Amino acid sequence: VNLVASDINLWKNSTLNKVLERGELQVCLEPGYMPFEMKDKKGRIIGYDVDVAQLMAKEMGVKLKLLPTAWDGIIAALVTGKCDIIISGMTVTQQRNLKVNFADPYLVVGQTVLMNKSLEGKIKSAKELDNPKYTIVTKLGTSAEIAIRKFYKKAKIVTFETEADAVSEVLNNNADAFVYDQPYNILFMADKGKGKLVHLDTPLTFEPLAWAIRKGDPDFLNWLNNFLRQIKGDKVVDFYGQINDKWLKD
Ligand code: ARG
Repeated sequence: VNLVASDINLWKNSTLNKVLERGELQVCLEPGYMPFEMKDKKGRIIGYDVDVAQLMAKEMGVKLKLLPTAWDGIIAALVTGKCDIIISGMTVTQQRNLKVNFADPYLVVGQTVLMNKSLEGKIKSAKELDNPKYTIVTKLGTSAEIAIRKFYKKAKIVTFETEADAVSEVLNNNADAFVYDQPYNILFMADKGKGKLVHLDTPLTFEPLAWAIRKGDPDFLNWLNNFLRQIKGDKVVDFYGQINDKWLKD
């Protein structure tokens, strides 16, 4: 076996090598999941993940291209080569991990509940909503959907294409509660939820968020994990502290 030749092939086929040759990092993400990726008033995509993607491309010495991709097709887009990486607040689940590789987690979140204010006092914990008279909503194909299907056996569950559509159902009194990632719920509560919703903010799940790449690419995975360790550990530059302060401070 010619080990040298096979190592060269591995590197040649690595996504990282392709990114360097192309001079551009192509990132799949789905705007709408604040504060990680969302559109500003001018329609530009901004957020925590965007800042990370920018630094990633800068450290690689390449340009950055953001490719907005529908959530239910985002893994397929990666696997079929439409982008190099998913940076989109994606929770590491064991089922997704059968299809893609994940770098180490950059953050841990959990599901929380935004409940219609009319239930205040009546309902004190998420579990008490598990009753056929209540309707629970969330976004299709997310870890929130997986969580509520496990957690709520009696309540009615309805899913929507976007998180914004789902939570609106509670605001408009068509549903009793919205379950989604805590950072989103904190921001929603501080803005449109004021006086209309109650945040039951004890996390129902343990959810590491991580960047997803295609399987079988140790060179790319190695670069990503070392990049992540650097941004988390470097208290001199403190990029990680800064993005957490910028996007997650409540
Ligand atoms: N963390 C959740 C999940 O993995 C929601 C992520 C949604 N991300 C987005 N960019 N829309 O299912």
